[in-house]
Amino acid sequence: MFTVGIITASDKGSQGLREDVSGALLRTLLEEAGYQVVTYEIVADEEEQLEASMIKMCDEDHVDLLVTTGGTGFSQRDVTPEATKKVITKETPGIVEAMRYYSLQITPRAMLSRAVAGIRNQTLIINLPGSPKAVKENLSFILPSLTHGLEIMI
Ligand code: MTE
Repeated sequence: MFTVGIITASDKGSQGLREDVSGALLRTLLEEAGYQVVTYEIVADEEEQLEASMIKMCDEDHVDLLVTTGGTGFSQRDVTPEATKKVITKETPGIVEAMRYYSLQITPRAMLSRAVAGIRNQTLIINLPGSPKAVKENLSFILPSLTHGLEIMI
């Protein structure tokens, strides 16, 4: 069974001002698919905090998969892709290409997601957009192919 860490990037969520619907949905969808969610954090849209949280989940918790939600758009506070690029050592562009390819058939606004994905040591990190709708749509398309990717990472 693969282990998973979830990070919700949200200023309001981190202050307790907004319920983290997307993080909860991510947990449900991943658990339904047979993943074991071992760590979960809501982090403010601050590059350094996001980096620290990602590094901890990769290097201390040793999760196989780390999924983030939120902070991939164009707002000045959206810095999840920048934090992710700092912590990964290899990019896995096919995953985000696939997400945008699929999502563009649902909404042209899918082009506005700056999500990145990549590998740090033994962890695959994937950014998802912030809305529950986008989480569900993007994850449903990539999830069936992730197992094989995770299996061959060793
Ligand atoms: N992808 C899918 N499948 N469905 C969506 O509704 N929303 C888009 C895009 N990707 C969307 C999607 C929108 S409107 C934005 S602004 C970007 O994701 C970034 O979202 P974020 O800023 O919440 O990360």
